[in-house]
Amino acid sequence: MNILHIDCSPRPESHSRQLSAAIIEALLASAPDASVIRRDLGSEPLPHTGVEYATAVSSAAAMTAAADTAWKLSEGVIREVEAADVIVIGTPMNNFTVPSNFKAWIDQLLRVGRTIMPTPAGKVGMLRDRPVFIGIASGGVFTGEAANQPDFLTPYLSAAFGCVGIASLQFLPVQATAFLDSTQLAAARDRALATIDLTALARAME
Ligand SMILES: Cc1cc2nc3c(=O)[nH]c(=O)nc-3n(C[C@H](O)[C@H](O)[C@H](O)COP(=O)(O)O)c2cc1C
Repeated sequence: MNILHIDCSPRPESHSRQLSAAIIEALLASAPDASVIRRDLGSEPLPHTGVEYATAVSSAAAMTAAADTAWKLSEGVIREVEAADVIVIGTPMNNFTVPSNFKAWIDQLLRVGRTIMPTPAGKVGMLRDRPVFIGIASGGVFTGEAANQPDFLTPYLSAAFGCVGIASLQFLPVQATAFLDSTQLAAARDRALATIDLTALARAME
């Protein structure tokens, strides 16, 4: 079984990195033979999709060497996801949603004709479903009665992964990182980990 482990925080000792590492640890306890592939968007961000990518995906434009490079980058991201039975992501909440380095990765993954089939009824995903465990660190609170801000992160990720066919998302948030001490943070992490539904992992291992 292959696990793709993605981190998005630029901070080496970040809360979302600690959370995603703990999720990996919990999954490996159930699937010790799994191999883990790393994609660190925090330390090695992908380029934004620019004119070269637009040229590559346009049937009207002639392919250039730069467009071919942009195409291969997107293809690499898609193949990494295709090869993964399970995906684990650690991400901060930035300005109510995902950080831009995570958005840049999503822009490489979502491609009409490759991972998305347009139909008259709407977009249909072309990838098989697989479990995605998303550890989120937020400085404030975005769920429940104590929420003090909007949440565009979880609905956005549900829509983005959903449109390529990946619907089995589990969100595991550690919230209020700006206000908790290290003991409270560890307890918040444990509470998030306790909500992991490992039945999704068992299905992925079948
Ligand atoms: C640019 C920026 C934007 C942020 N926006 C939000 C936000 O909208 N909501 C929130 O709760 N925290 C926000 N934060 C705080 C981070 O979510 C928080 O510090 C989190 O722990 C960072 O994740 P990390 O510890 O994995 O790096 C923001 C932080 C930065 C640097």
